[in-house]
Amino acid sequence: MNDAPDLYAADLHGSLRDPVLGAISFLNEVMDRHPDAISFAPGAPHPDFVQGLDPHALTERFLTHLRTVRGLDPARAERTLYAYGPAQGLINDLVTDALRTDQGIDAAPDDVVITVGAQEAMLLTLRALYRDTGDLLAVADPCYPGIVGAARLLDIPVTDVREGPSGLDAGHLAARCRQARAEGRRIRACYVAPDFSNPGGTRMPLAARHALLDLAEREDLFLVEDNTYAFTAAEDDALPGLKALDTRRRVVHLGTFAKVGFPGARVGYAVADQRVGHSAGERSLARELAELKTMVTINTPPLSQAVVGGLLLEHGGSLRALARRKAARYRANLARLTDALDRHLTDGMPPGISWHRPAGGFFVRVELPVPADDALLEVSASRYGVLWAPMRQFSLTDRGDRQIRLSCSYLEPDRIETGVRRLAALLTREAAG
Ligand SMILES: Cc1ncc(COP(=O)(O)O)c(C=O)c1O
Repeated sequence: MNDAPDLYAADLHGSLRDPVLGAISFLNEVMDRHPDAISFAPGAPHPDFVQGLDPHALTERFLTHLRTVRGLDPARAERTLYAYGPAQGLINDLVTDALRTDQGIDAAPDDVVITVGAQEAMLLTLRALYRDTGDLLAVADPCYPGIVGAARLLDIPVTDVREGPSGLDAGHLAARCRQARAEGRRIRACYVAPDFSNPGGTRMPLAARHALLDLAEREDLFLVEDNTYAFTAAEDDALPGLKALDTRRRVVHLGTFAKVGFPGARVGYAVADQRVGHSAGERSLARELAELKTMVTINTPPLSQAVVGGLLLEHGGSLRALARRKAARYRANLARLTDALDRHLTDGMPPGISWHRPAGGFFVRVELPVPADDALLEVSASRYGVLWAPMRQFSLTDRGDRQIRLSCSYLEPDRIETGVRRLAALLTREAAG
């Protein structure tokens, strides 16, 4: 018997050897080996919010909506859930109503495609926008690995744009555009999360949002806006998203129900209201994305959409109402985390440790005086019982080499406190040199 492998990794698509695909599994593997460690690593919703959901009741709520509002007879309403569904989605009207009321985004149901999480929306958006080989995707750096991974799967080259304390550095994006032009290339789109980015935890001020939209117009590029953590802002402190400010249809807006609803539903959406010209007339970019979707997941599971639709209906059709309790809990956790950092990471600590105080989101970025590498993570887990995410996993450059990401979403307040004390012990002993 020949025991040579049937094929070699080198013969498979290059993305499989890209570190970005291994980042999440590495963290999971460390957590599995240290199950008792306090983990600031996962950006998952708090376990309380994924318990006690009643999918049956929520589905019933959506079925009632199909019968009473959309006028379907009971048999047709049921079939809607159990048969293949429209590629563009079943809950587009509920989503656009909520986006209009809660976020000031004025889109028609036909401008939206409901996707299998924001992840699929990223993949579809990139696939549709990138025709020419060599066109670049710019991403805020450090960056959510999902978008870089999607680009890798599609062989789209990625370029980094610095992220400062106020989010994406538009000056650096402009420089990247000039650089691309000098090389005979162009930046076709830029991925940005203006509200509490993952992993950086930054938020763009209103003027910076307008400036970025102007730059996108000037440079003829699209902005792919990731709205995942915007819901965590206090209601009197929320800023309009890029899409709400987008008068020139430069923005494709991506959202997810993973954090405001629950991640297991795998429901997200793209708002893509750009008009696409065909010989037979115009249609929305969302329609084109739905066309691509028929070759990726065919449609987002109708049962999942029904549960999410039911959740929205239970909250008067409002995303903000759906998110309110969760947002308050996450803000309280975040305050607990930054307060604990203030208390435990100041006196007697080695110099070179700093962090910021985000007004929302799940994440705090901490700067260390030593490399935040796998070796330090291993020591942190095995000797100090605390886990975090090395920022280098989220970066295309070495900018994050001395930074870690702490997530506050998953932990109870007393665990946050204890975890920060353990982190202080790690840094006192291991970072003192
Ligand atoms: C920035 C960002 N975008 C999107 C997502 C969620 O994507 P999905 O809806 O595919 O779960 C996450 C989840 O961690 C995220 O952090």
